[in-house]
Amino acid sequence: MPVFTIYGATGLQGKAVATSIAEKFGSAATIRAVTRDPSSERSQTLRKTLGAHGAKVELVQSDIKSSPDHAQALVGTEFLFLNTNSFELFEAETQIAKDIIDAAAQLPSLRLLVWSTLPPASKLSNGKLTGIKHFDQKARVDEYLISLGDKIPWVGAQLGWFAENVRDYHLLSEQADGSVTFKYAIATEETAVAWTWIERELGPAVLGLFEVALSSAGLPQELKNTSIPVGGWRVTLGELVQEYSRQSGRKFNYERISGWGNQDLDQMNEFFVEFGLYPEWEIPAPPLKKLGIPTKTLQEFVADSLAHHKFK
Ligand SMILES: NC(=O)c1ccc[n+]([C@@H]2O[C@H](COP(=O)([O-])OP(=O)(O)OC[C@H]3O[C@@H](n4cnc5c(N)ncnc54)[C@H](OP(=O)(O)O)[C@@H]3O)[C@@H](O)[C@H]2O)c1
Repeated sequence: MPVFTIYGATGLQGKAVATSIAEKFGSAATIRAVTRDPSSERSQTLRKTLGAHGAKVELVQSDIKSSPDHAQALVGTEFLFLNTNSFELFEAETQIAKDIIDAAAQLPSLRLLVWSTLPPASKLSNGKLTGIKHFDQKARVDEYLISLGDKIPWVGAQLGWFAENVRDYHLLSEQADGSVTFKYAIATEETAVAWTWIERELGPAVLGLFEVALSSAGLPQELKNTSIPVGGWRVTLGELVQEYSRQSGRKFNYERISGWGNQDLDQMNEFFVEFGLYPEWEIPAPPLKKLGIPTKTLQEFVADSLAHHKFK
């Protein structure tokens, strides 16, 4: 029975990954969810959701900010999905992720680590945008993984702008005339980004990588110990607006504001405008496409999550 350990399992990413594993492996999987609080509502809901597929669920208490014994949480792990939340760990994120990776590298059982990551914004902007901490904190972990050579098998899942942001961050508002406004900072209607629909795309991608690692063929050379974008489409924010209008029949406007007043997010949007997100990659990324990893489209996302959006 393979042991899948997930850091951040109660969150958006981790839950998506855990659910795909449970759906596929059912009672053949042990899913170990690392959480600060196994008794929380989110932990208990996760246990029920995964358990409904027959998976054996272990909720393991560990606050990764307080330097716990990672070896103990990881014992017997064959597949590891590691997401650290930049916005809760701040500058400690890189070292915490490295410590977990060091413990994972000692596991004789480990077949693959999938590390959730982002690109090195300071480096890619040639030192111009050094305030995008959540990008750089994760990118430094990629550098560390590369420095480990063959000591640990890993793939970095480079995430796009979450499609869920449109819904979860209340970027849509209904106007008195019935039209809808999509309000966003700095980026213009012409700004294109790579998107990831976490709830529908991340789980199948991570599961797909685990399954290939488990197969006799193993991971193809081009995916070994490297990072690759996960997600199905690259479109401009204006294209999102047009697609929403087309499907909902409502007038939809884009409102650009000068900033959110948060350096990390504002520089990230400047980065998108000037440098894009994974511009060197065709999206969906061909190596994942070759493996048959399914992705979604902007049209599917809008139909599922936005066209019938209820405004409060
Ligand atoms: N929004 C975007 O467009 C976007 C794009 C790319 C990447 N990202 C990255 O996505 C990450 C956030 O992922 P998410 O949306 O899945 O987060 P989330 O839904 O907020 O979940 C955060 C998870 O981290 C766990 N966690 C937080 N602090 C912990 C601690 N001290 N010890 C143990 N576990 C801890 C939480 O577990 P418990 O509460 O159960 O302990 C929870 O499962 C950020 O790092 C961000 O940089 C975001």
